[in-house]
Amino acid sequence: MKSTPSKFGKTPHQPSLWTRADALKVHADDPTTTQPLVSANFPVLSDEVFIWDTMPLRDIDGNITSVDGWSVIFTLTADRHPNDPQYLDQNGNYDVIRDWNDRHGRAKMYYWFSRTGKDWKLGGRVMAEGVSPTVREWAGTPILLNEQGEVDLYYTAVTPGATIVKVRGRVVTTEHGVSLVGFEKVKPLFEADGKMYQTEAQNAFWGFRDPWPFRDPKDGKLYMLFEGNVAGERGSHKVGKAEIGDVPPGYEDVGNSRFQTACVGIAVARDEDGDDWEMLPPLLTAVGVNDQTERPHFVFQDGKYYLFTISHTFTYADGVTGPDGVYGFVADSLFGPYVPLNGSGLVLGNPSSQPFQTYSHCVMPNGLVTSFIDSVPTDHTGTQIRIGGTEAPTVGIKIKGQQTFVVAEYDYGYIPPMLDVTLK
Ligand code: FRU
Repeated sequence: MKSTPSKFGKTPHQPSLWTRADALKVHADDPTTTQPLVSANFPVLSDEVFIWDTMPLRDIDGNITSVDGWSVIFTLTADRHPNDPQYLDQNGNYDVIRDWNDRHGRAKMYYWFSRTGKDWKLGGRVMAEGVSPTVREWAGTPILLNEQGEVDLYYTAVTPGATIVKVRGRVVTTEHGVSLVGFEKVKPLFEADGKMYQTEAQNAFWGFRDPWPFRDPKDGKLYMLFEGNVAGERGSHKVGKAEIGDVPPGYEDVGNSRFQTACVGIAVARDEDGDDWEMLPPLLTAVGVNDQTERPHFVFQDGKYYLFTISHTFTYADGVTGPDGVYGFVADSLFGPYVPLNGSGLVLGNPSSQPFQTYSHCVMPNGLVTSFIDSVPTDHTGTQIRIGGTEAPTVGIKIKGQQTFVVAEYDYGYIPPMLDVTLK
């Protein structure tokens, strides 16, 4: 890697803070920021595989793109094991919950295609076995590069380590469907550095993943968002006045919140092809608030930068909480300062009666939000659940200034294209 100094100088920007005071404003079950109840009678995409994180094909500006009239999505995917003795319980019944909970360790990138933006047909694995350098193929972003159908898939190569990588291939269409060709040479891009972004050596529970490249609509340069944790040994972080924010009397105690250190990372490309990247300080940190800000992504609207990221109840710090779902922040320029949407950051959370119904929301520039079904209760006590591993109903939100509103619900896995590219 070249060591050209950053064009931004020594201190390019100060990360914006998601503070404990902001998070105290999070309220579950506000209908304007709560995903409608998902019925336990949902259809499943496939009896053979579980799917979770969904990554629609898009262009570098963020527009969801179909090719020759075919929509394409990539998904993290794992085989279901209904007949594998390893997943039978003492009574010989399939333990689907255990199978589902183990999925991250065998995640592979698959693709699906559709003429209607729903009713997805399975295309298969994106990379053949042995192409990806690690055991797990974790989330990222497929970018359609041109009218030749070339696609750069940025994703996370995990176990051992966690490396942001990319692999180039091509989408080929016929009257009957879509296939992906190429995707044979994986190029490592970068890993956590231990100075801005926490490494595995600093914290065995570190996060470094989920690349989301984009072109800044204002300066025209190529950047990439990703999930990280703030660098430093686990337990060494300080939750001071700035991280706490303006809290009411009695809310100053931060407990053990120094262990929660999520951030949204950003890197800038030194070349037009996105082969050579320089990490910059995080855009947003959540030290003392939350340990995971996953799958960060942007919607560029009304000259503003709407930054979205998904997070969990279980990753919140002592003394603050919120539902599983997607959170958002807005700024007038790429490097901030970012302000939490709706005061708190919460944009679309699960209802408290079904806290795990969906996850891994992706807000698209048309205001549609896709996610997957995790588990839905099948009885009133919530002790019986049905595992999803399939697409959730799409939700429509309206983004207005510093506020968002749930305004619509659509079909399961509805991801319509915003533009169509005719391949040459
Ligand atoms: C979100 C996520 C991503 C990660 C993947 C692992 O659901 O945790 O951050 O890449 O799932 O399965």
